[in-house]
Amino acid sequence: MKDAAPQTVYLSDYTPFGYVVEDVHLTFQLAPTSTRVLSRIRFAPNPDATDKVFFLHGEELNLISAMIDGKPVEPVVTSVGLSCPVPEKPFVWEAEVEISPETNTALEGLYMSNGMYCTQCEAEGFRKITYYPDRPDVMSVFTVRIEGPHPVLLSNGNPRDSGDGWAEWRDPWPKPSYLFALVAGDLVNHSDTFTTCSGTEVALNIWVRPGDEGKCAFGMEALKKSMRWDEEVYGREYDLDIFNIVAVDDFNMGAMENKGLNVFNSSAVLASPETSTDANFERIEAIIAHEYFHNWTGNRITCRDWFQLCLKEGLTVFRDSQFTSDIRSAPVKRISDVIDLRARQFPEDQGPLSHPVRPESFQEINNFYTATVYEKGAEVIGMLKRLVGDEGYAEALELYFARHDGEACTIEDWLKVFEDVTGRDLTQFKRWYSQSGTPRLSVTEDYADGTYTLTFAQHTPPTPGQDEKLPQVLPIAVGLLNANGDEVVKTTLLEMTQAEQSFEFTGLASRPIPSLLRGFSAPVVLDRVASKEEQVFLLAHDTDAFNRWESGRTLARNSLIAMVRDGAAPDQAYLDGLAALLRDDELDPAFRALMLSGPSQAELAQALHEAGATPDPDAIWQAKETMADTMAQSFRDLLPKLAYEGKVTEPYAPDAEQSGMRALGAATLALQTRLDAGAAAQKQFDKADNMTLQLSALGQLIQVGKDTGAVQAFYDQWHNDRLVMDKWFGLQVGAAHPEVAVDRAAALSSHPAFDMKNPNRFRAVFGALAMNHAGFHRRDGAGYDLLADWLIRLDAMNPQTTARMCSAFQTWKRYDADRQAKMKAALERIAAQPDLSRDTTEMVSRMLG
Ligand code: BES
Ligand code: ZN
Repeated sequence: MKDAAPQTVYLSDYTPFGYVVEDVHLTFQLAPTSTRVLSRIRFAPNPDATDKVFFLHGEELNLISAMIDGKPVEPVVTSVGLSCPVPEKPFVWEAEVEISPETNTALEGLYMSNGMYCTQCEAEGFRKITYYPDRPDVMSVFTVRIEGPHPVLLSNGNPRDSGDGWAEWRDPWPKPSYLFALVAGDLVNHSDTFTTCSGTEVALNIWVRPGDEGKCAFGMEALKKSMRWDEEVYGREYDLDIFNIVAVDDFNMGAMENKGLNVFNSSAVLASPETSTDANFERIEAIIAHEYFHNWTGNRITCRDWFQLCLKEGLTVFRDSQFTSDIRSAPVKRISDVIDLRARQFPEDQGPLSHPVRPESFQEINNFYTATVYEKGAEVIGMLKRLVGDEGYAEALELYFARHDGEACTIEDWLKVFEDVTGRDLTQFKRWYSQSGTPRLSVTEDYADGTYTLTFAQHTPPTPGQDEKLPQVLPIAVGLLNANGDEVVKTTLLEMTQAEQSFEFTGLASRPIPSLLRGFSAPVVLDRVASKEEQVFLLAHDTDAFNRWESGRTLARNSLIAMVRDGAAPDQAYLDGLAALLRDDELDPAFRALMLSGPSQAELAQALHEAGATPDPDAIWQAKETMADTMAQSFRDLLPKLAYEGKVTEPYAPDAEQSGMRALGAATLALQTRLDAGAAAQKQFDKADNMTLQLSALGQLIQVGKDTGAVQAFYDQWHNDRLVMDKWFGLQVGAAHPEVAVDRAAALSSHPAFDMKNPNRFRAVFGALAMNHAGFHRRDGAGYDLLADWLIRLDAMNPQTTARMCSAFQTWKRYDADRQAKMKAALERIAAQPDLSRDTTEMVSRMLG
């Protein structure tokens, strides 16, 4: 076998495959280290292709035999695939390969998790199962036979036949190989049914390990809600007789949308009030919806190539956020999404890993399942919808489904349906897919003779590979208020297309107060030096819930930045405005909780960086401490009123209403703990009967260092529950004082229950370390060194998770010279490892530039 050097793949090099696949038959003879995979594939020359090279992807496969039209052939095999002379007419390819699921620690292809077989094929894992044109534009129907001693044998589509030790499945919908799935194990199901809008009954199952059946009910309800919602809002009906979800403990990602057989990280589907937090429930509901929605946006209509990933992921994230907004609180969802965008996507887009929503090249596609492709990709769809209006959007989607069902599409196809439906020219809008970086928007205003003029200027700083930037289409939602807080101009969409552009509002009786970028109508950094009075006014009066939150956030951020940079005291105007809001019982508790929580250390570091300053993690941490202490003192009398105790009398429910009250309670407890050194937290911990209350109390006890008893008690109670133990590991590091976070992560990594092969457990410890801002950025570099040590170790087993976690270093250039040198040294040490995976090699070399 020849070895292939890492290759860069370019969007511009796309050519169709020389053959079409008419159908695929697979037989799996399962065995831990010697699974046999027999394939029988009917190929025919592709009339649309000029390039007739017969190359099949295949990695880590042991080829036993190959035949074309029943005659043995001897293909040329390399470490990435095989090629073979083939007839110039339709032919049947048959191959037998052997693979070893038990030793597959990369969790890609066919692998084992707790004695159960399962697969993960997206993006390029199918080539570790058998030889195949493993690219999303090759679509085919699959028939699968599984032979194994397991009681449950599952694959895509509908069950066809089964007997003792075998089962056959047939998926009637043509699909790319990345949507293939197989599961075999000793599983139990939580079942239900769903009757679709046209009256077809669908069998629904959530398959789990024995013992977990009590944690499926919530996921099942979420699935049924998602199915109904997609019918009602997008007119999309489910298209098979059965829909299966399987929970797997060892999984690199959250979940995967394999046709008719979604595979979930157990943390993304299993839930019970005793073991899951409100946030877990909400995430589970959203992920189930997301993977279900892929059935149309991803599966029925898929991507032509992996550069088009945002076609399915951006759209499906947008759809799942619409779903959550509809069934929970729309403003709370929007605020949470923007917090997340700023925390994950902005740093990515403004650092060495910056790339367009549709990248133009990659070495390892797994590295491009990013916040930019997903979250910015969803923002781009939100902007498109704002620009064309709700009706235009609905018509465009109708046309998209009608025109492209069964196809593998591009962003061009997607934009064309909008152009055809609305008559708009989207040439400039398309820059959102090709231009990387976060646009900065500045604004000046003028008022004279009843006319108010807003002048905006946009500018996108250079990003890797893109020095010159062009103006983007920016939908800017604006409302104008008068001094009484009345809306004198209701939300209006300004469409900015130039580098600099003015908009006039006439007939105003007095100078208005502008509420800009309502609902965060475009993913930009708004550089606006608004007066503090104006922010305080908007905090009290803005009629747009998002912007009301935003003005509070801006006040908080500015105050904290002044504390960090100039040693200023906490801003009294902010504290007063916040207190008034907290007292307002008309306001949704979830909204008030968001107001009270304030910007994270990472968000402050990002804001300082955006302001051209060098963030000092210790000073940021100290400023946050001072702010929290000051709040605790000045809200002292308010806290009992906001506390959770006695607020909910009904049984626990993870709904928006109750979880909002618990979120407000948790933010309150965080302040209370500063006044009573953990007394209230200990009390809440002792009597908690749900994980939300128990965990928030434990977090506070850890934070004030009063945790020895509680940490042990929690362990004693939950050491047999894997998902709860992930919380136990994570919180001890995440909530730790920055001085001890690194040592605690190191100590926990030698705990008997630490298992680096399990991505959830690894992330619990080291993801939490990277998230503990001041802890990770400890001045002596111990955080960088420890993370680098463990990433090097993990890379040999699981490149995908290693590469993703490397992004903890992506901000290295923004810190002081000393920290920069230490972070860079850690990256260089990773880069210098012999046999470093392609995944991690690409990430560290991009970060080093
Ligand atoms: N298709 C992805 C899963 C995936 C990601 C497979 C990367 C292979 C490589 C799936 O639809 C997805 O996006 N899952 C997200 C959760 C979702 C709610 C955004 C995940 O796993 O984090
Ligand atoms: Zn997805």
